[in-house]
Amino acid sequence: MNWSKDILNKIEFDNISNIEEKRKLGEIIASKVQDGQVIGFGSGSTSYMATMAIADRVKNEKLNIIAIPTSYEIKMLCNYLGLRTASLMEYKPDWSFDGADEVDDNSWLIKGRGGASFKEKLNIVNSPITYILIDKSKKVSKLGEKFKIPVECVLESINYVKEELIKLGGRDITLRKAKGKDGPVITENSNIILDVKFESIEKQLEKQIKSIPGVIESGLFIGYNVEILEY
Ligand code: 5RP
Repeated sequence: MNWSKDILNKIEFDNISNIEEKRKLGEIIASKVQDGQVIGFGSGSTSYMATMAIADRVKNEKLNIIAIPTSYEIKMLCNYLGLRTASLMEYKPDWSFDGADEVDDNSWLIKGRGGASFKEKLNIVNSPITYILIDKSKKVSKLGEKFKIPVECVLESINYVKEELIKLGGRDITLRKAKGKDGPVITENSNIILDVKFESIEKQLEKQIKSIPGVIESGLFIGYNVEILEY
């Protein structure tokens, strides 16, 4: 028997900014899909639009692909749309796609507004290439000019992590609050997120943040194998 899956139809994104640009980016990424491929799926509204476009192609052309999703949100969307999903335990992606919050001229990124940067980074390092889909609002001349850096850490470590982030130059550190639940955001890995402002982001900062005991991952992506697709 098949489930009706109507419970999943509320996975849709509300109020998508620059939706026409994101729709076009979705079409561009969907045109890269080939039968039999394993593809890493990012998270956020741009990835949502890309997933919809890929699902259309898969359905119309009866393609067989496997999606490696980076969040419950995209996993559930894939499930709703009939796209087969698996994890990095079973498959290595042929390529991945994702969105970003900020991209600079060096293709350094800030990601993680959606709280999924841990698995997003895992997909990126496991993929020969990851296409980062951005509309013009994502380009910045100085990384960190609009967004804080999300730092996912183990709950017990937050006071220590906060002090260490301040030593690295972090300011205005806030615990990310949940919407639809009291208290903090609890990530898909059962951790919390501190959002941290850095006035200056140097090459070593990602590794410095990651080396703080208690930190699981940050939303800073410096020097990864990415290709920026802007529309
Ligand atoms: C989620 C992410 C997203 O890719 C990033 O926040 C961009 O989101 P959107 O496509 O909605 O602008 O990193 O953790």
